[in-house]
Amino acid sequence: MEFAGQHIISADQFDLESLKKLFSFAHRMRPIAQRDVRCQVLDGYILGNFFFEESTRTRLGGETGFLRLGGGVETITAMRLSSMFKGESFADCIRVLKSFCDIMVVRCKKAGQAAIAAKLSHVPVINAGDGDGEHPTQALLDLFTISEERHAKIDGLHIAMVGDLRLSRTVHSLAKLLSLYRDIRFTFIAPPAAQMPADIVKNLLKKGLQVEQTTDLRNGLKNAHAVYMVRRQKERVKRGKKHPLKNGQYRLTRRIVGEYCQPDVVIMHPLPRNAEIATDVDELKNAAYFRMVNNGIIIRMALFILVLGKEKEFV
Ligand code: NCD
Repeated sequence: MEFAGQHIISADQFDLESLKKLFSFAHRMRPIAQRDVRCQVLDGYILGNFFFEESTRTRLGGETGFLRLGGGVETITAMRLSSMFKGESFADCIRVLKSFCDIMVVRCKKAGQAAIAAKLSHVPVINAGDGDGEHPTQALLDLFTISEERHAKIDGLHIAMVGDLRLSRTVHSLAKLLSLYRDIRFTFIAPPAAQMPADIVKNLLKKGLQVEQTTDLRNGLKNAHAVYMVRRQKERVKRGKKHPLKNGQYRLTRRIVGEYCQPDVVIMHPLPRNAEIATDVDELKNAAYFRMVNNGIIIRMALFILVLGKEKEFV
């Protein structure tokens, strides 16, 4: 995949070569993110950070990264999008917002809306989560984290994903990215009504990867190299309808990690956390979820440089 000028809408767009390039660029971003080195490569560029649904980490991850590269940022969040209260359509909103920036990051309420924004925009659109669809930049930082924590070896890994897999967009995108590697084994742990969408499972199986679906947390965790916990997406269930998962139904505690997980398991969560991971897990060296926040900054920095076609100017 060529990065320059691309909209980044789905994890399906990536191949192994583009991931390698992105990750090697991300490493070069670390000293800039830590302010050991100053960089002005995006001087004069404006990021439009447009969030039709609330966000903290993704919004600030992009914002911090863009500022560290010398660019400027305009942020609008759902609370302040006046057009949302004045009856403007999503399409009109994008038609207007694209004039204010050189690249836009959008978070939308419904699956498929980021692709609609891309069709309407002459500046590159980066999907920062569209409803229960996808969240490609989170998946990129998740995969980068797995690579960092597992010494750059992703082929052959066994990944357990736990919780509201049906409605959590991050696991949809991450499963797609992982499916590019060899001999990946997935264990999806959730009640049937919250399981990974059937089309995603079908594609993994078609690629010859191993998929196990279970309701059993303890047995499902055994032999996993990474465990990815997600929260219950209660805001995506219609009012009056019951969510198939109870809050904390699948809860990772220090005792469970000690009894059922491999000693070197990587414990991940896109955050925000509810009750899925007990705080007594936080001190374990395996707990990677707060390290993921910093990885999110450097991955997004690398993506901005590549999509804006500035890689040659970056020295
Ligand atoms: C996730 C999201 O928004 O999909 N958060 C994030 O971007 N870090 C996960 C979630 O909200 O549960």
